[in-house]
Amino acid sequence: MPKVVTLPGDGIGPEVTAAAVEVLREVAPDVKVEEHAIGGGAYDRDGDPFPQRTRDALGDADAVLLGTVGGPQNSPWNSLPRHLRPESGLLALRKALGCYANLRPVRVQPGLEHLSPLKPELARGVDILIVRELLGGIYFDGDRRIEGGAAYNTMRYTTPEVERVARVAFWAAEQRRGRVTSVDKANVLEVSELWRRDVTALRNREYRNVHLNHEYVDSVAMLIVADPGRYDVIVTENLFGDILSDLAAVIPGSLGLMPSASLGDGPGLFEPIHGSAPDIAGQGIANPAAAIMSAGMLLRHSLHRPEAANQIDRAVALALREHPTRDLGGKADTRTFTHAVLDAMASPSVG
Ligand code: NAD
Ligand code: IPM
Ligand code: MN
Repeated sequence: MPKVVTLPGDGIGPEVTAAAVEVLREVAPDVKVEEHAIGGGAYDRDGDPFPQRTRDALGDADAVLLGTVGGPQNSPWNSLPRHLRPESGLLALRKALGCYANLRPVRVQPGLEHLSPLKPELARGVDILIVRELLGGIYFDGDRRIEGGAAYNTMRYTTPEVERVARVAFWAAEQRRGRVTSVDKANVLEVSELWRRDVTALRNREYRNVHLNHEYVDSVAMLIVADPGRYDVIVTENLFGDILSDLAAVIPGSLGLMPSASLGDGPGLFEPIHGSAPDIAGQGIANPAAAIMSAGMLLRHSLHRPEAANQIDRAVALALREHPTRDLGGKADTRTFTHAVLDAMASPSVG
């Protein structure tokens, strides 16, 4: 029996994870679901944002389904020593799972162009896969400190780190439209110079069937919303990928439509890309679509059940058409939307 560990976390995390688990149980009733603590709530209870009990539960897990972590700007969690903050719990989880490739699909489903603030002719047919490096760069380098009136973070990448994430991007492009855009800041940063050199060399050695081009991150920040149709797979380092993917959420219409899969050496980690949304937490109005689609990615990538994943994607698209949530200008609350997904899965055209 496959085992999925769920980590609902803070803010809207528990609300959207409950919705995703409901849908997961419907399409995969044989899966064993085990809930554990992470983030600020875990710190309050155990003094650790990634408690040992949670760490132990990952040992025999096939996949992890995460909600969100973190508090509002004025939360006392933000004044803790950095390693005890909710976000550090999430980073430690990613590290423990070894999941270095974070897949963030940006898709506008047919018939849902009206949810995008972009002109319909720009939004129509958009299908981008952002592959974000997740375990390196400025997020993780050990050389970080505040010293009086100066502060240091270091951005560092090694060739093996670049190659392993680039491989995932090339592999994904082979299943898609065969194009990879590598995004960097090679006109200024040495790290980007190495990144560009290694991605190019790997392509020339092993992936000559994939078309590779290089673009600067500032330019991509403009082009990804001005002309999203030009991208197939985007591969980039940790911080650039974090920022570009929130920006790309504008294309489908909301952060609530952005799922993700993080793959690597161990069990996969699946999480919406949005945060804990303190402004709407506890009101039952969060859009659970990103969490539900993350459960779909879990079925696809970790449990190898593409049919169940496709069923979820079709049901979410149908629910979005008929019961859009408030972030998309609609009226549906979390429950109404989740029921719409479950109803759609039961309908013959989807199930
Ligand atoms: P956020 O993503 O939580 O919210 C940004 C805006 O988007 C808010 O207006 C919010 O209401 C809205 N939003 C986000 N998800 C939504 C959803 N599913 N449905 C409807 N509206 C949604 O970003 P933030 O406010 O910058 O961060 C809040 C907290 O979340 C911080 O503590 C931050 O560190 C944390 N965070 C955690 C994760 C994660 O757990 N993976 C990701 C990003 C931010
Ligand atoms: C994300 C988040 C996290 C990140 C934070 C909360 C650590 O913004 O998953 O996009 O920066 O990776
Ligand atoms: Mn982010």
